[in-house]
Amino acid sequence: MRTVHSLKELRTILRGYRQQGKTIGLVPTMGNLHEGHISLVRKAAESADVVVTSIFVNPMQFGAHEDLDKYPRTLAEDQEKLAEAGNTLVFAPPVEEVYPEGLARQTKVVVPEVSEGHCGASRPGHFEGVATVVTMLFNMVQPDLAVFGEKDFQQLAVIRKLVRDLRIPVEIIGAPTVREDDGLAKSSRNGYLSETERRIAPRLYQIMRETADRIQQGRTDYPALEQEASAALAEAGFRPDYVNIVNSVTLKPAAPDDPEITLLVAAFLGTTRLIDNLSLTR
Ligand code: PAJ
Repeated sequence: MRTVHSLKELRTILRGYRQQGKTIGLVPTMGNLHEGHISLVRKAAESADVVVTSIFVNPMQFGAHEDLDKYPRTLAEDQEKLAEAGNTLVFAPPVEEVYPEGLARQTKVVVPEVSEGHCGASRPGHFEGVATVVTMLFNMVQPDLAVFGEKDFQQLAVIRKLVRDLRIPVEIIGAPTVREDDGLAKSSRNGYLSETERRIAPRLYQIMRETADRIQQGRTDYPALEQEASAALAEAGFRPDYVNIVNSVTLKPAAPDDPEITLLVAAFLGTTRLIDNLSLTR
């Protein structure tokens, strides 16, 4: 498995694969890889001949007071895990390779509607940063397909829309959330949790499951259910950011007769912000 840091080198190698008629799958990541990321790589390898995993902690998607500086950078460990998973090529560019003129002078991609609300409301500019870097990665790699996790449900919706709207010829594949045995969704940010916080963390998914059960039992008073889940999170020791019960396609507040529903939740444990989601059919 090779690792390249420059766009020029990436393009030279990919041209070779394309000339051999090989299909290319892309898995964009920010590194510090865990089983969730690796499941995306395996999924890409099922459908593409060559898998490119990008590792880039994208400064444009972090807010001024967020964890850009302390975000874990673990390239050597990531390379080992990727080699085992059947990855072909790692693209790990330095910031100057992606933003040679700096962030302020960079052309940006704005995706309306699905970017608004939820994480888009709590993290202004975040999805602009995600949409911009992912569009660039699509242009750099020109993959046939790209795999993203459902763990970041709103992000996946943003990417599906940008690909549709900008006519980018790439197939977007969603992959299910990989969880710890206690239900906590795997995340690079779980490493920030103290021992006490780590013990509380699985309550997030439990409370979501309890809420989903109530919907399955016939409740459609969604604002009241959101309040109850929020109160349960606070009781467990979280500081809820949002609990939203939405239409799975539009991500707008769910109507009582919507068949496809998703619970979107973000909550702080200490200074760590955790997100999770759960989809159900009524
Ligand atoms: P990152 O948080 O590193 O996640 C990379 C990919 O892994 C995303 O598609 C994410 O949804 C997926 N992922 C994370 N945790 C997962 C889990 N527990 N199960 C399944 N998939 C999981 O998301 C980003 O990076 C960035 O925003 C990026 C798309 C790379 C743009 O910078």
